[in-house]
Amino acid sequence: MKKNLIPEKQISAEAACNYIKDGMIVGLGTGTSAEFAVRKLGKLVREGLSIRGIPTSNRTKKLAEAEGIPLIDFSESMFIDLTIDGADEIDGNLNMIKGGGAALLQEKIVASVSRKEIIVGSKTKMVDHLGSFPLPVEVVPFGWQVVFNQLESLNGNPDLRLNNGQPLLTDQGNYIVDCHFRKISNPKLLENQINMIPGVVENGLFINLCTKMILADGEKLIVKDRKIR
Ligand code: 5RP
Repeated sequence: MKKNLIPEKQISAEAACNYIKDGMIVGLGTGTSAEFAVRKLGKLVREGLSIRGIPTSNRTKKLAEAEGIPLIDFSESMFIDLTIDGADEIDGNLNMIKGGGAALLQEKIVASVSRKEIIVGSKTKMVDHLGSFPLPVEVVPFGWQVVFNQLESLNGNPDLRLNNGQPLLTDQGNYIVDCHFRKISNPKLLENQINMIPGVVENGLFINLCTKMILADGEKLIVKDRKIR
């Protein structure tokens, strides 16, 4: 008989929840992998775990509220103990492309103040080089064509992300331009180059932000810690 397999994303997300302890401020990621963590944390909260969460998107906020996880914002704390999030691609240095779910801005702010950031998902997210997955760039609507032009000059082969034929709006009311670099040889340099373009709010290159990767290959976990350099 066919076994009812638990999705790899769920296995890795629930493994990451073992690192959450009583009293922690927890960053709640966005996407199908991170949602498994939010659901698991909701269950643990209902069983007595005391944590406060900071969500990385409106949809995670809604899910966390439905799960009964107490939420705060940065007026109550400027740091986060541990964030659990997903990634679109992650390389051998634990650098990432994120933003497939259009939540890269809040995700990067949260990651930047997280003492620890655990990335979860299936092993299909591992790559030798970042760039096969289109790199999302969040831009303000005013003058987006100017930014688009600059991204073309950087060989980004940009596409404006649409939703039902209209520009997709992020939680902050911005647009997303997806760039097809194919192979990014210097992620840190490219992150800075893109963010220098007037009109760019943020891009989906996450450099030196992930402290631990927990990906699932079937039921097996692939765990890697970032070497501090
Ligand atoms: C959202 C993200 C997600 O973490 C990323 O897209 C991975 O999503 P999933 O876990 O659904 O594969 O960056 O902006």
